[in-house]
Amino acid sequence: MERTFAIIKPDAVERKLAGQILARIEEKGFTIAGMKKIQLTRKQAEGFYYVHKERPFFNDLCAFMSRSPVIVLCLEKENAIADWRTLMGATNPANAEPGTIRKDFAVNIEENSSHGSDAPETAAFEIPYFFSALELV
Ligand code: RTP
Ligand code: MG
Repeated sequence: MERTFAIIKPDAVERKLAGQILARIEEKGFTIAGMKKIQLTRKQAEGFYYVHKERPFFNDLCAFMSRSPVIVLCLEKENAIADWRTLMGATNPANAEPGTIRKDFAVNIEENSSHGSDAPETAAFEIPYFFSALELV
């Protein structure tokens, strides 16, 4: 079993798409090990995305991610990291495969509805950034 970290981003929560995204997660066989709705502060968003701090989109990204609530998730499944990235689709919805979350729901390359860890080391940083061990069942 593998765990990954996921976010239903502000654009999707604002448009009341969380239920549809959670249904797709469960249909694909993921177990929801942890879930909560929170609103990130600007500083918390910057800490989460620190790997992108030199990128031109960093300021816009952190403003977007802290503008309204998100739903953070720890998802469990065999091959969870890669399978969740497949279900999300490409970063830019214009390049995402049909049937993916980003193709069906994203607004644009920034407001792309979902986040997923991209490697085991990333998941190992991101899961405990949001969840204590007692919150994962
Ligand atoms: P994520 O980390 O959110 O799962 O997305 P990702 O791996 O597919 O993409 P990444 O390169 O890690 O970028 C993180 C997030 O930054 C925003 N972004 N904006 N304006 C732009 O060119 C641009 N590029 C990326 C997106 O919200 C992206 O998911
Ligand atoms: Mg990423």
